[in-house]
Parts: sequence; C-alpha cells; structure tokens
Amino acid sequence: MTVHFIGAGPGAPDLITVRGRDLVMRCPVCLYAGSLVPRELITLCPPGARVVDTAPLDLDAITREFVAATEAGHDVARLHSGDLSVWSAMGEQIRRLEAHGIPYTVTPGVPSFAAAAAALGRELTLPEVAQTVVLTRTSGRASAMPPRENLDAYAATGATLAIHLSIHVINSVVEKLRPHYGDDCAVAVVVRASWPEEQIIRGTLTTIAAQVAEAGIDRTALILIGPSLAASDFRNSALYSTDYDRRYRRSAEDDRARD
Ligand SMILES: C[S@@+](CC[C@H](N)C(=O)[O-])C[C@H]1O[C@@H](n2cnc3c(N)ncnc32)[C@H](O)[C@@H]1O
Repeated sequence: MTVHFIGAGPGAPDLITVRGRDLVMRCPVCLYAGSLVPRELITLCPPGARVVDTAPLDLDAITREFVAATEAGHDVARLHSGDLSVWSAMGEQIRRLEAHGIPYTVTPGVPSFAAAAAALGRELTLPEVAQTVVLTRTSGRASAMPPRENLDAYAATGATLAIHLSIHVINSVVEKLRPHYGDDCAVAVVVRASWPEEQIIRGTLTTIAAQVAEAGIDRTALILIGPSLAASDFRNSALYSTDYDRRYRRSAEDDRARD
C-alpha cells in the first residue's frame, strides 16, 4: 500500500498533471489540504472513497489516516496545492511514513509562481535582465525565517523575487525592497492565479501597497518583483539565433558546408 503525494496545481482543476489525476481517480482514500485544492478534483475520487479535508487535523491525526488506510490495504492520494517541493508540509509527513515503513511516491504539480507568471504573460528570466528567480517568503506565525535568509540579501542580487505567504505584510516588504530595486521598479500581485476569481494588480514599489490595500487583498496572493516584469528592450536569447548551437540545430553555415 502506498501514499501518493500529488501536487494539485495552483487552482484550476485542469492544471493537475495527468499522472496526478489518474492517481486521484483510482485511490480509495483521498486526503486533501483545505481551501487551496479545488473541489472539482475531489469529485474525481472513485465512488465510496474516503475523502478527508486535513485542514483541521494535526500531524498525528493525518498519520493515523495513513496507518489506517495501509492496514485496510488502501492506497492514498494525498493532495497539496501547487507543487510539493515548496511549503507543502510534505517533509514532515514523509518522516512519519518512513517511521511506519509505509511507502510513498511524489507526483509534482504546477507551482503557484508559474501560474502567476502565466497570468501575467511574462517570462521571469530575460537575457541580461534577470537570470534567477527566488522563491521565498517572510516570517510567519508558524515559521520563522532562518537568520541568513532575508529579503535584503535576495534583493541585493536584483533577481526576480516571487514572495509567498506575505501579502498581509506588503508594506514592510516594499520598504525592504525599495533601496535595492528603486521606487519605480515593476511589481505585480497575483491573487488566486488560475482560479475563476483570479485578480492581477500591477504597479511599482511606490504604488503597490496602496493598490493592494484598496483592493482589500490579504491572502492567497503572490508578490512578484523585478525588472523582468516590465523590461521590453532586452536582447534576444541565443537559443533562436541563426549562428548558435550547432550541436542541436544546424546553422546556415553548416548547411552551406554540406552542399
Ligand atoms: C502554503 S503556500 C503553498 C505553495 C504551493 N505549494 C506552491 O507550489 O505554490 C501558500 C502560498 O502560496 C501562494 N499561492 C498558492 N496558490 C496561489 C495562487 N493560486 N495564486 C497566488 N498565490 C498562490 C500564496 O502566497 C499562498 O499564501
């Protein structure tokens, strides 16, 4: 019997992977993580499946569900929003499964930062503008940041930042970023990317906090910041240039040499 961790994607039910959907459709037990997993995915569970929202449960109670399913000979579909590699609490559940000798698999999902970039229609890495995306957050009630992981340090690089779990402290985020990116740097806040109620707020470091306050946004939003959000005069990548990368694509010169 196996617990299958599945990234449910950012919200739109058709943004789960085919593998993830097939697992949900065949597992007789489904545990899903609260409000960010779309209900349409739960309706894919087979008839008679045990379906549990784990939002009100603690880790011991979730572990009991895993153990009970294993004893009953049932596979479990364990759904978390977005992808499992970031802020999913999968790590601590895997530790429990290993302690109980219960096997598991991991099926990735579309992370919210990718859905937000798609909603904006932007590439977050542009040649010579930004080549790094930092997925980060600020300290919260439940988890403090490790001391050397701070916005100042990341902002000093000028990379594109995708700041999670922090919309409620946007004022202090903006104040930390301003000295590094400048008042006019582009910022986008994407609220519930890919859900029907998706909302996009575009501004600058000078305007964004007031825009977010006016829109009354205080949860399930990503803050994206960096010059890649607005740049239009970046140079083309080498990928599609005519005289680059002979290994994978013949250049005009190669063709002439063959004639
Ligand atoms: C507990 S984390 C889960 C992250 C998730 N594992 C992922 O791959 O994106 C929840 C935070 O992710 C961000 N988030 C999750 N889904 C989102 C969405 N559809 N649109 C915008 N932000 C989202 C928000 O910052 C939210 O506070």
